[in-house]
Amino acid sequence: MTRGGGRRGALMARATAVPDSGLTGSVDIPDPAPENEPKDLRSRLKRVRRSVGGLLKGLPRVVKLAWDAGRWPTLWLVFATIVGGLTPTATAYISKLLIDSVTGAIRVHAEHLPDQVRLGPFELTTVQALIAVAVLQLLVYVLNALMTAASTISQQLLSDRVSQTIRLRVMAHASRLDLSFFEGSASYDLIRQAQDEAPSRPVAMLTSVFSLIRTGITFVSMIALLLSISPLLALLAVLSPIPAFIADSRYGARSYRFAVWTSPIRRRMDYLSTLVTTDTYAKEVKLFGLGDYLVDRFRRISAVYFGRQRKLVTDRNLRGTAWGLVTTITGSLTYLYIALEAVNGRLTVGDLLLYTQASNSVQQSVSQLFSGFTGMYENNLYLDNLYKLLATEPEVVAPAKPRPLPSPVLGHVVFEDVTFSYPGTDSVALGGVSFEIRPGQTTAVVGRNGAGKSTLFKLLCRLYDPDSGRILLDGIDIREFDPDELRRHISAMFQDYVTYQASASENIGVGDIDHVTDGPLIERSAEAGGADELIAGLSRGMATPLGRWFNEGANLSGGEWQKIALSRAFMRDSPLLILDEPTSALDAQAEYDLFARLRNLSHGRTTLYISHRFSTVRQADRILLLEHGSLAEYGTHDELMAADQGYAHLFRLQASAYLDVPEEKV
Ligand SMILES: Nc1ncnc2c1ncn2[C@@H]1O[C@H](COP(=O)(O)OP(=O)(O)OP(=O)(O)O)[C@@H](O)[C@H]1O
Ligand SMILES: [Mg+2]
Repeated sequence: MTRGGGRRGALMARATAVPDSGLTGSVDIPDPAPENEPKDLRSRLKRVRRSVGGLLKGLPRVVKLAWDAGRWPTLWLVFATIVGGLTPTATAYISKLLIDSVTGAIRVHAEHLPDQVRLGPFELTTVQALIAVAVLQLLVYVLNALMTAASTISQQLLSDRVSQTIRLRVMAHASRLDLSFFEGSASYDLIRQAQDEAPSRPVAMLTSVFSLIRTGITFVSMIALLLSISPLLALLAVLSPIPAFIADSRYGARSYRFAVWTSPIRRRMDYLSTLVTTDTYAKEVKLFGLGDYLVDRFRRISAVYFGRQRKLVTDRNLRGTAWGLVTTITGSLTYLYIALEAVNGRLTVGDLLLYTQASNSVQQSVSQLFSGFTGMYENNLYLDNLYKLLATEPEVVAPAKPRPLPSPVLGHVVFEDVTFSYPGTDSVALGGVSFEIRPGQTTAVVGRNGAGKSTLFKLLCRLYDPDSGRILLDGIDIREFDPDELRRHISAMFQDYVTYQASASENIGVGDIDHVTDGPLIERSAEAGGADELIAGLSRGMATPLGRWFNEGANLSGGEWQKIALSRAFMRDSPLLILDEPTSALDAQAEYDLFARLRNLSHGRTTLYISHRFSTVRQADRILLLEHGSLAEYGTHDELMAADQGYAHLFRLQASAYLDVPEEKV
């Protein structure tokens, strides 16, 4: 059969080519969808008002950020911005004065008039007037240079501080958020974006806000200056950049939409390059020969991406230039008009120069105002995200008056009709589960993959709250406790435990952060978890760095990492011990040793562990079988074997593999 041919091929193609998955599927990037909003003037104005309103709301936030980061630099920045905004107008006005005094002086000499010229309100000799103007110009230049330096310094000082402050706030907030927040793709996106953009966006926003203010000041002061000379000129200066402005605004909005539209594609490109350049993926990429495929895929997606971008950029610039020509023509006509007026003596040569400078500067400020607004608009959207994240409150929280945990905690665990679905899913992970574990008992939780075993543990640690039903510890609903306080009384190892890029002793010590440097305790925990021998064999013992992210560390095997994680769980001497598949990667001897030790370690503690190996399961006081999120069987090994139901079947199934029992007999 030819590859991909025929009906089967078509079906396979449908099944495997998930659009947008990044690894297969089309590499095409469609045009940004046209906006469905009405295009009449009123709704356009409404949209403009909305986005400007949003920006104005964003403004105080940014100023507050800067203010919190540093008062003096902020004040300097404000001051420098105002001076910087007035400088072009002052310079233009001084040039006008200069030209007017020079032409005045020429006339005085040519026509032998009395040596007297008017400079603003003053009557001066021609030389005095020239000197005064030169001094004024020098002052403006010096002030401007000083202010530029001040604003550069304060901006740099502020930007580092603002970005550190934001990162700190994001971290502090993220550490309080619910587990479910990290597991939803939309909310996870929020936090990724906040983390990735946090260092740059607020600073960019700050910069664009201040340059917008500066441009605004230039714009207004220039117009005011022109108004004082000729209202008509002022009007012309404002009107002539409008065509270019319209062209710019259309494409500005489009390029922003393009950026938003293509961001998932850029993320996929990032993912493709991560797959090829990261150590953890390298093995599979080599074995499955994915390298060429991924590189080629990246090349194709990026070619399409840049093709679209080229089109947009070229279009934008060509049309921008065309519209700009209209502006230029208007400008030239105006010059002609002013020149004629000057010749007729209705305007001075200085006015002509002033207009030239002013109209240039107004034109520039209009386009800068625009790009400033689009920049701000975009940055503001990211900031909105950031503030949305900071406004997200955890749902798993302590009650207003948390109840202190009983002292001592006995470890009496009761599930009462507990039902739970993961947020954003329809399927029930646990449905109506009820059971009781007496203090000090050891319970093995068994069941097929996806039966809800790990979910049960997560609920007990209050990483989620049940949708209905209650979980009681020593007769009290665990929601009445402060969750942090509750978790301090639980020692746990999860199925997807963390491998910290840290020393062996730190890897174990973080199990009880208050004792992270407590050598003897860490040694004891390593013994309990069965990691003592392996650590003794490391080049620097407990001090050996594990993982290779930072300094040259030791790479451990899968089972060795698990022993470390297991030791971490023994750092706390808690009344509740929870182990989710603690021996999944351990060799037979290590597993046997662990359970032998566990009898001692779990003495006096309520212990729950999940295991798929029935040799260890049968040693537990009680066995709890979950099936599709429901409690199917609960009792001692002997009871469940006698009942001859699911557990007995699974037990014999595994035993038959060892004991050469024919499968029919199972
Ligand atoms: N974070 C999550 N978000 C949404 N659904 C989840 C999440 N974690 C688990 N599930 C779903 O809940 C069900 C129970 O998962 P759970 O992890 O409790 O299974 P398990 O019994 O521990 O399985 P295994 O033996 O494979 O570890 C599964 O159907 C799974 O798809
Ligand atoms: Mg599990």
